[in-house]
Amino acid sequence: MILPAIQERRSVREYETKEVPQALIWEIIQAAQYAPTGMNNRAVEYVVLRGAETKKRLFEILEPKQPFIKEAPAIIIPVTDTRKTIVATADLAIASSFIMTQTTALGLGTVWKHIDPDKAHEVGKFLGLPPEYILINALPVGYPKKKMPDHQEKEFSENKIHQEKW
Ligand SMILES: Cc1cc2nc3c(=O)[nH]c(=O)nc-3n(C[C@H](O)[C@H](O)[C@H](O)COP(=O)(O)O)c2cc1C
Repeated sequence: MILPAIQERRSVREYETKEVPQALIWEIIQAAQYAPTGMNNRAVEYVVLRGAETKKRLFEILEPKQPFIKEAPAIIIPVTDTRKTIVATADLAIASSFIMTQTTALGLGTVWKHIDPDKAHEVGKFLGLPPEYILINALPVGYPKKKMPDHQEKEFSENKIHQEKW
């Protein structure tokens, strides 16, 4: 039953300082690597930041400046090689979705931190990415400071489902 885990996923923007074991970060990335990719290109890779200096540098580049970028114990940045995929954004988005689901299932929190294309270029340079690689977001991972309410049944809207025709 994956639906309860999906309902439990919330955007977490405040984290405990407690470190996240590397095995859990690996498990989260393992889940992401099972995500589909266009024509099975499997080109998505992951940059993991744990150092205070690197997280602070990322925080400084990004706008709006959201403190969880430097406060979360770990940051995962999915990246992909545009020479190997024609659907880079979709590949990165679905990998991120798997990251968010698995993170929640492990009792951890995350949030999609959007990165604009111009900032993404700067982040790529700072990470030492080859120029053909792109990124669209950063995903902090950590123990949530507080438990947020799960998504509720009432948020499900049958009105948004169109059968056969809009
Ligand atoms: C494409 C996308 C970009 C987002 N960008 C940000 C962001 O830059 N910063 C942030 O705090 N949350 C960001 N979010 C998280 C949304 O604000 C959040 O998912 C939404 O408010 C619903 O809350 P929930 O995730 O708790 O269900 C983003 C979400 C998506 C899907």
